[in-house]
Amino acid sequence: MKSSMLDNEVSSSEAPNPETGTDETSDTESFKCELPRSRQSGSKGKNLTGAPVIEVINVKKSYILGDMEVPILNDINLTVYEGEFLAIMGPSGSGKSTLMNLIGFLDRPTEGKIIIKGLDINELSDKEVARLRGLEIGFVFQTFNLIPRLTALENVELPTYANAREGVDTRKRAKELLNLVGLGDRMHHKPGELSGGQSQRVAIARALINDPAILLADEPTGNLDSRTGCEILNMFTRLNEEGRTIVMITHDPEIAKYADRVVLVKDGIVQSSKE
Ligand SMILES: Nc1ncnc2c1ncn2[C@@H]1O[C@H](COP(=O)(O)OP(=O)(O)OP(=O)(O)O)[C@@H](O)[C@H]1O
Ligand SMILES: [Mg+2]
Repeated sequence: MKSSMLDNEVSSSEAPNPETGTDETSDTESFKCELPRSRQSGSKGKNLTGAPVIEVINVKKSYILGDMEVPILNDINLTVYEGEFLAIMGPSGSGKSTLMNLIGFLDRPTEGKIIIKGLDINELSDKEVARLRGLEIGFVFQTFNLIPRLTALENVELPTYANAREGVDTRKRAKELLNLVGLGDRMHHKPGELSGGQSQRVAIARALINDPAILLADEPTGNLDSRTGCEILNMFTRLNEEGRTIVMITHDPEIAKYADRVVLVKDGIVQSSKE
């Protein structure tokens, strides 16, 4: 991450309060965040002249269940440009997480190509894929995927054990990120001792540890109350304004308003694309 983000102290009025115990929210509650000025319609008009950073070309994905092949993604074509903030919407079970797993190299397509920063995943070795993923892609999972026996701090540091940027004090950076997400006083807690919203914030800090160019977030506010969720979205907005490309899955149209562009995944294809 560029240093500006960490230098940007979260003011006490903005900072999420880990003590409220009201982190969880119902799925049906729609966020009512005050959109930052840069996100309000009319002033969004970002000029996306950057290079494509994510290219999904004729991608198909099916799962084998018993002796049946179940198609999930039929023919996905999607280009995400450098510096873009894209929201992916679509009904439950439509394949949004499946698509994000493919973009984040957690799974391979049955057919088709995924190109990240000009590199075709199919042509990279496992080692090259691991390095590209470790340094360039931050992933916030729908179900957090924290390691239960590690503390919050160790969970945030974990990706750096495999891949780290040279000259970075990863322990210091992990602490700064935990402070940034409002968990300075929960660093030594294990996931079982954290609420859902706090776990989500640890997962976000972990995604940012290697200063990735691309942030993939699967329902990042799904377990947060409105106030904390708005904080996270404002953080994403700042990260995006600093040049990161963000792809975020959400079921909430209010949250999708933060994005430059919204696409809909339905019936195995990208059905529509609107500003
Ligand atoms: N490993 C797997 N094996 C078999 N089927 C799977 C697997 N993972 C996902 N699926 C199926 O793929 C479909 C799409 O799942 P996915 O998790 O991508 O949906 P989604 O759009 O993210 O839904 P939600 O909004 O509920 O998170 C579902 O029908 C699911 O049952
Ligand atoms: Mg999902």
